[in-house]
Amino acid sequence: MTVDFDKITSLAKRRGFVFQGSEIYGGLNGTWDFGPLGVELLNNVKRAWWRSMTQLRDDVVGVDAAILMASEVWRASGHIETFTDPLVDCKGCKMRFRADQLDGDGSGRCPNCGGELTEPRQFNLMFKTFAGPVEEDAATVYLRPETAQGIFVNFQNVQKATRRRLPFGIAQIGKSFRNEISPGNFFFRSREFEQMECEYFVSPARAEEAYRAWIAERHHWYLGLGIKPESLRLREHARDELSHYSAGTTDVEFRFPWGWGELEGIANRTDFDLRRHGEFSGKDLSYADEVTGERYIPYVIEPSAGATRSMLAFLCDAYDEAEVNGETRAFLRLHRSLAPYKAAVLPLSKKEPLVAVAREVERALRPHFMITYDETQSIGKRYARQDEIGTPYCVTVDFDSLEDRAVTVRERDSMAQQRLPIADLVPALREKLEVVSN
Ligand code: GAP
Repeated sequence: MTVDFDKITSLAKRRGFVFQGSEIYGGLNGTWDFGPLGVELLNNVKRAWWRSMTQLRDDVVGVDAAILMASEVWRASGHIETFTDPLVDCKGCKMRFRADQLDGDGSGRCPNCGGELTEPRQFNLMFKTFAGPVEEDAATVYLRPETAQGIFVNFQNVQKATRRRLPFGIAQIGKSFRNEISPGNFFFRSREFEQMECEYFVSPARAEEAYRAWIAERHHWYLGLGIKPESLRLREHARDELSHYSAGTTDVEFRFPWGWGELEGIANRTDFDLRRHGEFSGKDLSYADEVTGERYIPYVIEPSAGATRSMLAFLCDAYDEAEVNGETRAFLRLHRSLAPYKAAVLPLSKKEPLVAVAREVERALRPHFMITYDETQSIGKRYARQDEIGTPYCVTVDFDSLEDRAVTVRERDSMAQQRLPIADLVPALREKLEVVSN
């Protein structure tokens, strides 16, 4: 179905997934705060990525590097010199645009008021600040615009500490910051966001093979978490589109309500990063293979995904509407491992002794699953509220429960109902949810 993006953004705000950053002060452009449901969804996206990258593979390990890094890192990486966007200002309405996002070459007219635009100026996207009490050039540090460099500078530390033979990868999840000229499309393009990146170190001879394998692997990851196949496509960059470090890049793109947008880039970064860090730091970052006796600077295959951007894609893809009893209702058909709440416990009435049994069910489930408890309003309204936030199962405690010590479990998508003994609920839900114990 074609989704109205306004409906998704309003649901996300109304139900506490996402709020504008600094909202009571009028909002800080390009910043977003994740509310109680949003933080669960985002954590679940990150957990699914971490699990598939590190726990389920024996050739990738994790790190969590500092956000503040020595300025030399960004000189070596090329960010100080080339991490820029061409900026144009409208002489009339004063609005700012990225020249490369305007029709034509950016020397045309303002899309807002038709006014004349300035010549494009290069604008560096890194946020600058100072380390220590003195605001001088020597103390300048940058908030990282990607997590990748925290991995490259630790390549040798990790390789030696884990005594790994190539190929192997290092994964990291964390915040990145970019002073985007035109943040927008909700939190698709923000100034503060999270990335999930892996740098996979490989011999030059096996780089192409690893690049192809990672494209397939990452495509598969989104499908495995329920994204519809028709909502995804792979797009290989043309030669003239490649970043300065790349010998090949393929984007995983998602069909957002406004059109196709990048979720992740998988790049063959060659030996650019380790070579440059070797040159700038004066350290030998080459690798000696003890078995073959070869020595070389490793090539790097990088699957680099946005955590917050993927979360937006999961939200958009899961949004659905269906008619229930003559009423159009919203559903988030989120994959069970991403849903903020796995189950909701709902007593049919808020009177005793029903509530006591419902609370007992709640206490039994809580240590095992992220659950919620709701006893307000009619059962129909409560089901609707859970469907709208993606809760896969509703557990209803009714008057029969007092006699048979059983509850009704309703599944969100099929709305099928099943009567289950309270004593069997934890293993039964565990099986339905395929919950893993990490
Ligand atoms: N280390 C490579 C790198 O950072 P990128 O294509 O600039 O590559 C990777 O970023 C991913 O990070 C993107 O595919 C996107 O999902 C996410 N991302 C980049 N800029 C973003 C922004 N301003 N807001 C939200 N996500 C962003």
